[in-house]
Amino acid sequence: MSEVVLQSIVKRYEAVPAVDNISLSIGEGELVALLGPSGCGKTTTLRMIGGFIPVTEGRILVGGRDVTHLPPNKRNMGFGFQNYALFPHMSVGENVAFGLQMRKVSRADIARRVKIALDRVKLAHLSDRLPKQLSGGQQQRVALARALVIEPDVLLLDEPLSNLDAQLRNEMKLEIRRIQQQLGITTIFVTHDQDEALSIADTVVLMRAGRIEQQGAPDDLFERPASHFAAEFMGVTNLLPGEVAGSDRFRLKGGDTILVPVAGRAGPHAFAIRPERLEIDGEASAANTLSAEVEIATYRGLVIDYRVKTPSGLCLTARRPSPAAGGPAPLPVGRPVRVSFAPEAGTLVPM
Ligand SMILES: Nc1ncnc2c1ncn2[C@@H]1O[C@H](COP(=O)(O)OP(=O)(O)OP(=O)(O)O)[C@@H](O)[C@H]1O
Ligand SMILES: [Mg+2]
Repeated sequence: MSEVVLQSIVKRYEAVPAVDNISLSIGEGELVALLGPSGCGKTTTLRMIGGFIPVTEGRILVGGRDVTHLPPNKRNMGFGFQNYALFPHMSVGENVAFGLQMRKVSRADIARRVKIALDRVKLAHLSDRLPKQLSGGQQQRVALARALVIEPDVLLLDEPLSNLDAQLRNEMKLEIRRIQQQLGITTIFVTHDQDEALSIADTVVLMRAGRIEQQGAPDDLFERPASHFAAEFMGVTNLLPGEVAGSDRFRLKGGDTILVPVAGRAGPHAFAIRPERLEIDGEASAANTLSAEVEIATYRGLVIDYRVKTPSGLCLTARRPSPAAGGPAPLPVGRPVRVSFAPEAGTLVPM
């Protein structure tokens, strides 16, 4: 059953669309990540769902009820917004209690529910502290407790991990996922970080310029990006432009022809292949082999990225395990190499 349904929602500022006709169904208990580059309309979409800004067109349904014109406090949603500040003069406990007081919950119930919410984010022992006496990560957790304490039907989180360092971000991400699954709360999680989206979401919705570019399960987007934009955003660094040249052939710009599954496509495309799928000096019998020379070698700890160039001027990045991960000795710059790959190691995407 769909808990949240967006029907062709549009937000225009003056005549310019920030969100341009988005339709989406989110299942009960599902975590959807809205992913996309800065300015693509993620926050605007979330704020319309929350009722903080009116839609220009379209409808929003929650649990079958039309909430399009209801104010935020009538939608029973929990919010954790980008840099959403806590009340500085209130203790942690008072911050979390605030939403319940607004809802006229009895004092005894407030005390009980605040305790549960703070336990959930492992902060019960800091209930009397002021926000300024907490670390950034602890403040984010208070904000999460405050969003959860009202037992929302829907949880809206806008880059809730953006102010945290890498380790805390990872811990908080697991925490949010754990709590969200435990309580079965339908959640919309905004991020511009593809790795974060892939690791936390049931469904990833990739946005571009106010529209949905592609949506699907994390592995779907990662392994089968459907456009040049999606491939690039999902971290496919090799996107080689060219033209379909036969039932299983693709002619790269520069002249080299490679064997790839064409699947009925025609015309200009790009061949998208991840650096991990390019083999350096592998089996000589591979279906596709290009001669090249190492231009730049970048050491990244467990892997080394080799930027190589073919005589026709094609630049590719190939990734190999470094000696630290049991890989072969590093290759020097200027070294001639053979780069090979199987036809199905990459995909064609429309230009
Ligand atoms: N109040 C406003 N008036 C005019 N334009 C606005 C307003 N708010 C947002 N926009 C525009 O709408 C577009 C989408 O903005 P939005 O904040 O939704 O992007 P975002 O995807 O959340 O980006 P970021 O990752 O940087 O937070 C942007 O081009 C932005 O400049
Ligand atoms: Mg934003």
